[in-house]
Amino acid sequence: MAKHTVVTMPGDGIGNQVLPEALRVLKAVGFDAEYVHADIGWECWINEGNALPQRTIDLLAKHKLGLFGAITSKPKKEADEELKPELRGKGYSYFSPIVSMRQKFNLDTCVRPCIAFPGNPLNFIRKKPDGGFEEPFVNVVVFRQNTEGLYAGVEWTNPPDGVRTALATHPKFKPFSSTPGPDLAISVRIITRNAARKISKAGFEWANKFGYKSVTICEKPNVLRETSGMMEDEAKNVAKEYPGIALWSTNIDAQTMWLTKNPEDYGVVVASNLFGDVISDAFAGLVGGLGFAASGNIGDEVAVFEPTHGSAPKYAELNPPIVNPIAMLLSAVMMLEHVGEMEKAKQIRDAIAAVVKEGKVRTYDMMRIPGGAKSISKGAASTTQMTDAILKKLK
Ligand code: NAI
Ligand code: MG
Repeated sequence: MAKHTVVTMPGDGIGNQVLPEALRVLKAVGFDAEYVHADIGWECWINEGNALPQRTIDLLAKHKLGLFGAITSKPKKEADEELKPELRGKGYSYFSPIVSMRQKFNLDTCVRPCIAFPGNPLNFIRKKPDGGFEEPFVNVVVFRQNTEGLYAGVEWTNPPDGVRTALATHPKFKPFSSTPGPDLAISVRIITRNAARKISKAGFEWANKFGYKSVTICEKPNVLRETSGMMEDEAKNVAKEYPGIALWSTNIDAQTMWLTKNPEDYGVVVASNLFGDVISDAFAGLVGGLGFAASGNIGDEVAVFEPTHGSAPKYAELNPPIVNPIAMLLSAVMMLEHVGEMEKAKQIRDAIAAVVKEGKVRTYDMMRIPGGAKSISKGAASTTQMTDAILKKLK
């Protein structure tokens, strides 16, 4: 029997192209695992009215470890129209399977490393006063609270009377109180103290373990006084346990502005759900963008690793596939680290670093050329060629 069982969820579009590449690399380093396929995504929605079927939840509950590609989701109207005719009008409503998965298994800690590979032509460079350029070394790990905040899913258009009545008790609701229900949309931003504390604790622990000098809590406590205020308070409380690590507090808007000014100054960044989503994409943009951005969704029992990119439907049908598998491979590396296979993780990471540094094999995104059927004839590596190059560098 293998030591680990991994639930593989390729999902939609390019998820089906990149996930098999991760399995090739995991096998090459001798990761002792069995892989069990599970369905997720748009096809499940169309045919079953549920993008995260119970059988997939059961597999994750059983095996505790998941590797996920990407899913397609579409706005409400299209979702309703694409549902198969027999299921229409029966009360099915689309909900993101990733958000569901995070909530179902309380995958409350989302880790998103944004660490530059030297030699990556997509790395951020900065103009110097003398006209030259410099490439700051970006080494940031974002800790995003993954289950609460504005993504908790507590929202309405045309809120029920009880909600309106409750809101009317707040003086600031007055300007909205006469808005007709159908014209009023509300999403609730929920922060609990425990979760706020836990995400800060996870950030500080990481900083401590990997030698980061600072943790930045990135919120907006001057305006969102209650919710961001609680995030910041708990970060301050946790910081007391780590006297050697500095706590910085930044506002999400200012942080995105400073991003290109001094990104090398940041280490671990902690944020609530929406702000963490935004700031992790922003930092990822400095180190290669979607082709390089990996993530882990980690709960007390279950953990699921995934590239942060989506299903990129416009490239999903290309043969050979052209998308960059590195984000998916780095997600597999994070999975290895999570289960304690540090040596195997390092082998893959070093091989990716070697290919990037050498610069001979580059997918279309790394060449800054348009993606499409012609990318390959312009010299871009295909998805499999990139993996092949990485496999060759494994030591
Ligand atoms: P996307 O991430 O799928 O693609 C945006 C663009 O980024 C692509 O057109 C492509 O140019 C580039 N890109 C993405 N992955 C790449 C890779 N591995 N290598 C090279 N280039 C890459 O986001 P988009 O177009 O906004 O959404 C497409 C679908 O994916 C939507 O249905 C959306 O809801 C879904 N989505 C799913 C996510 C997930 O599964 N975690 C996350 C984001 C979007
Ligand atoms: Mg995102």
